[in-house]
Amino acid sequence: MKTILKHSIRYYSIKLLSNNKISSNLYLLMFKTLDKPVTEPKPPQFIMLWVPGYEAIPMSVAGFNGENNTLSILVKPVGPTTKYLASMSCGSYLGMYGFLGREYIPPGNKFLFIAGGSGLAPILYYLKYLGCTPHKCHVLFGCWRRGEIGDAPRLISKLGGKPYTACLGECDYQGTILDAYTRINLEGYDAVIVSGPPEMIKNMLDKVNNTVNHYFILEETIKCGIGLCGKCSLGKLDKLLCIDGPLFNYEDTVRVYS
Ligand code: FES
Repeated sequence: MKTILKHSIRYYSIKLLSNNKISSNLYLLMFKTLDKPVTEPKPPQFIMLWVPGYEAIPMSVAGFNGENNTLSILVKPVGPTTKYLASMSCGSYLGMYGFLGREYIPPGNKFLFIAGGSGLAPILYYLKYLGCTPHKCHVLFGCWRRGEIGDAPRLISKLGGKPYTACLGECDYQGTILDAYTRINLEGYDAVIVSGPPEMIKNMLDKVNNTVNHYFILEETIKCGIGLCGKCSLGKLDKLLCIDGPLFNYEDTVRVYS
């Protein structure tokens, strides 16, 4: 197994500035980094967030502003640590290290982003980083229920993207995100970037239209985030998600899930 230690661990203190519930199960948290990170993150990099009394967990960067040292993450409260995070009050202190993982900026002028649930986090940062306009960046955001979509379309628009929604209720596409994907004409897009839970990505691989390059941001178990523990080994691919990912091309993603 290839193991390359790229990062030494240096924790930064961060202070919670705002905690906004943007849908029935997503919270957007903005922190101020008290020690300025050395470099700005590039999408789809992530941080290890240390939550006092709980654990360190990987979180995608959903936003960053180097001028006022603010960093945003998107939290879906599913376990004890994320539930605690979603309930935190402004002024709380946490720790983080990063930015981790490999950046990838797709070449081209027009992109389709597909995000399921909390997979929206790295897509939000892509929108900001690429300086998106409604012509350049289209975002298909899918959840099961309308309430889980919440305010996400407004957030996507604010960052320059053109939002489309998919859910089993009142959405632009009624049905699953995969149903919606198969109904989109991919002509004119330079790349499709997909971010979401493993089940969504596995199911999508069979339906991929390979006339356009597809890239997948994978979510698997990450413990150390810096290539030390091997927990994020991608089996047949002989790669580590935390070092070589989190984004992989179609061929590599097929090998991960085959
Ligand atoms: S080696 Fe990737 S999480 Fe530890």
